[in-house]
Amino acid sequence: AAVVEHTFLVKQENMRHLCNDTLVTLVNGQFPGPAVEATEGDTVIVHLVNESPYGITIHWHGVKQTLSCWADGADMITQCPIQPNTTFTYLFNVTGQEGTLWWHAHVSILRATLHGIIIIRPKSGSYPFQKPHMDVPVIIGEWWQRDLMKVDKNFSNGGHFSDNPAGATINGKLGDLYNCSGFVEDNFVLNVEQGKTYMLRLVNAVLFSEYYFKVAGHKFTVVGADANYVKPYTTDVVAVAPGETIDVLMVADAPPCRYYMVALANQPPAPDPQIPVFMSRGVVQYNNAPIDVGGNCTKEALMPEMPDQHDTLASFYFHGNLSGLPSNPLLAQIQGHVDEHLYIALGKGSICKGNKPSCKRGGSDESIEVAYMNNVSFHLPEKMSILEARQHTKANGAFMGVQDLPSQPPRSFNFTDPALIPVVPGGKLEELEATRKATTMRRFAHNAVVEVVFQSTATMQSDSNPMHLHGHDFFVLAQGHGNYNPARDVSGYNLVDPALKNTVQVPRLGWAAIRFVADNPGAWFMHCHFEFHIAMGMATVFEVANGPTLDETLPPPPSDLPKCTNMKE
Ligand code: C2O
Repeated sequence: AAVVEHTFLVKQENMRHLCNDTLVTLVNGQFPGPAVEATEGDTVIVHLVNESPYGITIHWHGVKQTLSCWADGADMITQCPIQPNTTFTYLFNVTGQEGTLWWHAHVSILRATLHGIIIIRPKSGSYPFQKPHMDVPVIIGEWWQRDLMKVDKNFSNGGHFSDNPAGATINGKLGDLYNCSGFVEDNFVLNVEQGKTYMLRLVNAVLFSEYYFKVAGHKFTVVGADANYVKPYTTDVVAVAPGETIDVLMVADAPPCRYYMVALANQPPAPDPQIPVFMSRGVVQYNNAPIDVGGNCTKEALMPEMPDQHDTLASFYFHGNLSGLPSNPLLAQIQGHVDEHLYIALGKGSICKGNKPSCKRGGSDESIEVAYMNNVSFHLPEKMSILEARQHTKANGAFMGVQDLPSQPPRSFNFTDPALIPVVPGGKLEELEATRKATTMRRFAHNAVVEVVFQSTATMQSDSNPMHLHGHDFFVLAQGHGNYNPARDVSGYNLVDPALKNTVQVPRLGWAAIRFVADNPGAWFMHCHFEFHIAMGMATVFEVANGPTLDETLPPPPSDLPKCTNMKE
């Protein structure tokens, strides 16, 4: 196996889009940042040099980090941030994984501009399908013209609906739908040769929205998701939620012309406040297309017909169609006995400002809107990362005031019917009990089989919940609309060929059930990848115990792990 080595220089720079210079934080001056390309089994070394004014961490989203939790890059979960003018080296292996992943900053909401693709190619050079002619990263992002630190502050205080990006991007380009003073933004252009097969590696790197992606006149065969192969299936539309990656094959089998590719944000339906349409387009250009695009081609490139921007069902069906290859050895382990069951209600509530025991609730001046799991809003530790605390404590010792995440919400009710959730004066939905703020964790024995059911609730209004677990892939057993009902739903679990993922898009006002084997010692963040929600506390930590032998034990931290002293506000 080889060593793939990079230096990431994090720095603020001006970048020009929409006729404006915006000061953004970038890696090596690039947006999106540099690609990390490796072969299965390689060692990846990234020297992070921080010349930005912020504390930075980088998370290698979806990399399992087997026995290398120290390199996971989750701010205050696995490390303290790398302070300005200091460096840290991330070192990990990409073993047993093939496909597309991505990296992003995991502090505040800086990942809006600090992200890039990770491509892991098979060691044998062969795929479970015909080798594509070419790999094409397709990173869906968004361009922000606002000070992200201010936006982040707004989020942790309940948010402002004006906190929106200026536009959507494909591989950093806004595309010709955006212009200013007569200047049209560039499109991302993919040149194709007729008859050849292209593997599009889609990454959704945006802060909130799921995106629909299409190419006019072409179909896709979905072959991978979250760096796991899936049973191939054909579709003309891909839905990719924040944090997810989807690999598709596209054969250039259309008449040799020009075709638009479009990424369109899937927006929540009414009654959510008006959100602008975010859409970016690029071009697929056949290299033997006539120069004037006359002849058999239309003058304008062909536009695909997109799902409605408020259509959440296209995503539901897309994700429901993902199934895995039945050869995974972990599958046998999750088919039988389940050691731990968690039922996690995802919602929004409010807490009183300044620790007051009671106040006018519902986003008033006296209370703050928060997001929660089982009515507890996650509080990020401030003095020491959870992983360091774990290292300093005996197996069953207490962790700096960390509490257990409850296995279920304080009370069950009809979660998905807004009419049955109490409403406070002013019309805001309210939880039945006051929400608490705490640093929560669930602790699992080594190799425990864990089932988690995520229930989205009407308190979320219409936001979606792409739930992401660090350090493990999980099998997605089922999803459904409305309230989860074990008497009805367990029998519908797919235990034959479920898809293996690191992020599951929980249907709006619905639920999803996952299972995984807690086989990787460490402290792993588990959170909603809808950035608004993570800032508001929809998160917890899964702690996995060391195994009985040394090679099932997390080694001590690297010597250059950033110190938690001199934390900058
Ligand atoms: Cu891609 Cu914790 O996130």
